[in-house]
Amino acid sequence: MPKINLLTEDLINKIAAGEVIERPASVVKELIENSLDAQATKITIEIEDCGKKLIKISDNGSGMSEEDTKTSILRHATSKISSQEDLFAIQTLGFRGEALASIAAVSQLSIITKQEGEVEGFNLIVESGEIISSGILAAETGTVIEVRNLFFNTPVRKTFMKTDPVELRHIIDVVTRYALINPEIAIKLIHEGHELLNSPQVPDLINNLASLYGVKLAKDLLEVNYQKDGLTVSGYVAQPHQARNDNTQQSVYVNQRWVKSGDVSKAVYEAFHSLLFHGKHPIFVLNLEIAPGMIDVNVHPQKTEVKFSQKDTIFNTVFTAVKETLQKNNLIPELDIKFEEQLSFGQKIKTKILKKAKYKFEPSNQETLEDEEYATPEEDILIPEQWKEELIKEILPPLRILGQVQKTFFVAEAEDGIMIIDQHVVQERILYERFMAQLMNKQVATQSLLRGEMIDLTPTEKILIKENLIELKHFGFQLESFGENTYLLKTIPSVFGKLQPKELLYEIINNFKYGKNKLEQIQEEIITRMACRASIKAGDEVTVGEMQKLLDELANCKLPYTCPHGRSIMIKVSIDELEKKFKRK
Ligand SMILES: Nc1ncnc2c1ncn2[C@@H]1O[C@H](COP(=O)(O)OP(=O)(O)OP(=O)(O)O)[C@@H](O)[C@H]1O
Ligand SMILES: [Mg+2]
Repeated sequence: MPKINLLTEDLINKIAAGEVIERPASVVKELIENSLDAQATKITIEIEDCGKKLIKISDNGSGMSEEDTKTSILRHATSKISSQEDLFAIQTLGFRGEALASIAAVSQLSIITKQEGEVEGFNLIVESGEIISSGILAAETGTVIEVRNLFFNTPVRKTFMKTDPVELRHIIDVVTRYALINPEIAIKLIHEGHELLNSPQVPDLINNLASLYGVKLAKDLLEVNYQKDGLTVSGYVAQPHQARNDNTQQSVYVNQRWVKSGDVSKAVYEAFHSLLFHGKHPIFVLNLEIAPGMIDVNVHPQKTEVKFSQKDTIFNTVFTAVKETLQKNNLIPELDIKFEEQLSFGQKIKTKILKKAKYKFEPSNQETLEDEEYATPEEDILIPEQWKEELIKEILPPLRILGQVQKTFFVAEAEDGIMIIDQHVVQERILYERFMAQLMNKQVATQSLLRGEMIDLTPTEKILIKENLIELKHFGFQLESFGENTYLLKTIPSVFGKLQPKELLYEIINNFKYGKNKLEQIQEEIITRMACRASIKAGDEVTVGEMQKLLDELANCKLPYTCPHGRSIMIKVSIDELEKKFKRK
């Protein structure tokens, strides 16, 4: 008996489909690309059950002949290339002739299509790659494709799908990417009758950015337009102060194809360099126009990666393009003050990290959503069981404030030495504990915003807010829907009232983006970050009275020696050590 079997055609197709079609969003991506390649100017995507039940895309593009429609669902059937030379001169988004075959293999597919000038259209119905029926019918010029019950015949693949909000977000992301870079094309996304995204035909990219990302952000964007060595870099970067805490508002396109490109992103970060605070990510939308012969797009089954033949040139050109834009706009560099660097004067002082601890307040029995693309790196922080009232309260010794050093540290006298206290982390700890106490008693004090603050949101952010409205209220954020992409923020938690309401809300939304949908699961992280933002910073002048008040409040904290991130709040230099240093001992 032979050990090696030849796989059946059906099985081969299913295996191949697995590479191209990973989730509902991959179907949406492939179908949009096909509509764009067919020169459509209007594309509407309607989905049901987050794409699992139905994905329907209608375009007003070229349409297909009857014969081509039948061929289109076969593997390696494409109208876009025909020779090896073509493969290295790709001008279209598709080129492999695999997408429709892959989709057809794992769904129930229907195509209705009509070419310009034809009287009748053609309809093809396919299930698991097999044609079930076909026929002539009346249709508008263009193509309507319906994909029903994705993965109905590959149940295992189905179980790999994430929760609905995650799948939906992937779809919104895909549509947003293509909507962004195609201002002249009207693109709409509708989920169960609700319009999630509407990107009308506008004359240029900046108008498109305004309609998708909000007028306020768009107003402050800086235009990039640079050419060198046959490479054009165009698009927009946001001013450094608009940088975000995550990198979800970064889009790179190569010849209008959305790609994940570490090289391009790196060049942008380099150009921003000292303009960005630590941990901040610039917002950018950049398109690289490059001779098709200089890139290879045939490197990833989902066509989301490109290989550049001249990597260094690409890096340098993008770097210069962004750098020049920033320079032209007279952006003065701000300093990136690193905590560790500030401490360097005391490196020889034996530091005593008193405790490295972080507490989880509510044991969550829900599973964390592990979404590979959104997952944040594991933090090296000790997380003991749970917060308990009877937890040993650490006692702060009596301290007498001596003054402030470098507007960064308090210096205080303790019984047996001196304490150097980081002013930022002191307040961080206080605000964190104050807010946690309110949250646990379900009594978050709020501060009303007189007229409310308008918050412009991207389509993804809008969904995130909508899904978490109740939890957000619990946290002290009361929001009301206010038209298309806008919410009106009416209250904020007063503990963090010093912060810009918007900044505070973004802190929360950004956390959702990492694939963790439930607020409870990430509340600690959110509170830590809000506390961090709302606290006095290094460089803020603080009076002796204020310092003393802060220390008194710190003394009431449960863990007065560590900030919520687990770093030390104070360093002690004992009299003993001083005496040794001065050779008194
Ligand atoms: N919306 C559409 N309008 C007109 N023609 C279409 C449309 N969708 C698909 N086609 C035709 O069907 C062919 C097969 O589509 P398919 O997406 O499978 O392959 P492709 O786009 O050529 O390559 P790739 O697999 O890289 O996407 C296309 O080459 C195109 O000729
Ligand atoms: Mg295609």
